[in-house]
Amino acid sequence: MSITESQLPGPKGLPILGNLLKIDVNNMHNQMERWAEEYGKVYRLSLPIANLVVITDPVITQIILKNRPYKFVRMTKLDRILRREGIHGVFNAEGDEWELHRRMVTKGLDVKHQKDFFPQMLRTVERLHNKWSKNADNGEIIDLQSDFLRFTVDITSSLAFGYEMNTIEQDGGVVQDHMEKIFPMIFKRINAPIPWYKVFRTKEDREYDKALSEVNKLVDDFIIQGRKRLKDNPKLRENPKNFLEAILVAAEEEEDFGDKEVKGNLLTLLLAGEDTTAHTLSWAIFLLTKFPESQERLINESIEILGDSKWLENYDDHNKFEYLDGISNETMRLKPVAPILLFEPTEKVEIEGYVFEKGQLLLLETRYASIQDEHFTDGETFNPARWIKETKCPVHNMNSFVPFGGGPRYCPGRNLAILEIEMVLSMLFKNFKVEMVTPHEDVKEIMAFTMMASDYKIKLTHRN
Ligand code: HEM
Repeated sequence: MSITESQLPGPKGLPILGNLLKIDVNNMHNQMERWAEEYGKVYRLSLPIANLVVITDPVITQIILKNRPYKFVRMTKLDRILRREGIHGVFNAEGDEWELHRRMVTKGLDVKHQKDFFPQMLRTVERLHNKWSKNADNGEIIDLQSDFLRFTVDITSSLAFGYEMNTIEQDGGVVQDHMEKIFPMIFKRINAPIPWYKVFRTKEDREYDKALSEVNKLVDDFIIQGRKRLKDNPKLRENPKNFLEAILVAAEEEEDFGDKEVKGNLLTLLLAGEDTTAHTLSWAIFLLTKFPESQERLINESIEILGDSKWLENYDDHNKFEYLDGISNETMRLKPVAPILLFEPTEKVEIEGYVFEKGQLLLLETRYASIQDEHFTDGETFNPARWIKETKCPVHNMNSFVPFGGGPRYCPGRNLAILEIEMVLSMLFKNFKVEMVTPHEDVKEIMAFTMMASDYKIKLTHRN
């Protein structure tokens, strides 16, 4: 027998408001997980405008992820919010339009480009090392999370625009300060039951407008410079040096891919590549300082692979990291920065006996399954060795591990993100002793589009 949305279990709500007042937006992923314990793998939350179906089941999750971009699309409200701000790129395109965006974006993020781009990454890693070295010399207590955000914005902008922003060595007023205001506000607007911001603007709205306008100006400027470089040096057309040049050349062949789309994808890359990787790095530090035996193995592996170098100097050596890759997988299993994905079916569909109507909002909470013992042995335990063939645990269900999403729309920045994580963690632990100053129990999960760690402080000392 098929189960429809109205037959699903779920927490009791108030008349008209439903469960709205029960939802703590900045902690909603944990609430969704607790309700999954109580109401099962598919349940309903009643909300004033439209009810929400929450799914934690990996089989249904995989089917939805694979059936995009036609049978399921991203939450349409997200697209409306992004388009209103002129962000029209691969993340919010759907159907045939998405096929075109994805093709263009994939060209710029492929492994060949990543390898060409490696020397720029090296310079950024060196700057980060030098900053931390000074911090260690001065015995300073530092905000490592902010350094990670600067690092990822520098990496993404040099990949996307071919421009080394060098926010690591700048104080204040940098693009990363603007970026910090954008994600949380988009998240707030997605969760706002009524779009008040369309009628009146709060101080926060005005700050967000300013941040977006600054980032927009920056991107416009980069596009002008990119066009000029291509005009001045036509040879670049055959061998573009960065994502911007590649996409500008490719766009000339595609009638439906104009300036709006080029810009939308540059903004998308900046947004998608910064917080996600930086917050994953922050969670890795949180876990490694909590589990010193894992840290020890990472130090040994880094010494072995880096040899006399302070950081990874040879691109191909990144394939040698085994335990470190286990650390990044395990970090993303326990602390995924995108544990909530929102979709809508474009037609009535039935999956595993559940019927979802066209336009029904579906919230996939993806962490819950990945920390259950039925999918991963001792699911809640941090055990990087489970990702190594020789020490794999008996239960290891890859279908329940989707930190980068899945199906045709899985994250195209995955390889770059993994390389960044490998380069930063191996450099950090090979050269410095890392001491957590803030007690681990004071560090909380905060949901603000990405799931990040609350502020914590670190002290670094030189290892040798
Ligand atoms: C640890 C770091 C990262 C994580 C955990 C992450 C996670 C994700 C997730 C969960 C999605 C949604 C996938 C889906 O709908 O199936 C996504 C999409 C996307 N990510 Fe990432 N991401 C990371 C880093 C990056 C980087 C570095 C870039 C680019 C520089 C990037 C670019 C994108 C883009 C363009 C999309 C949209 C793809 C589409 O809709 O076709 N991401 N990412």
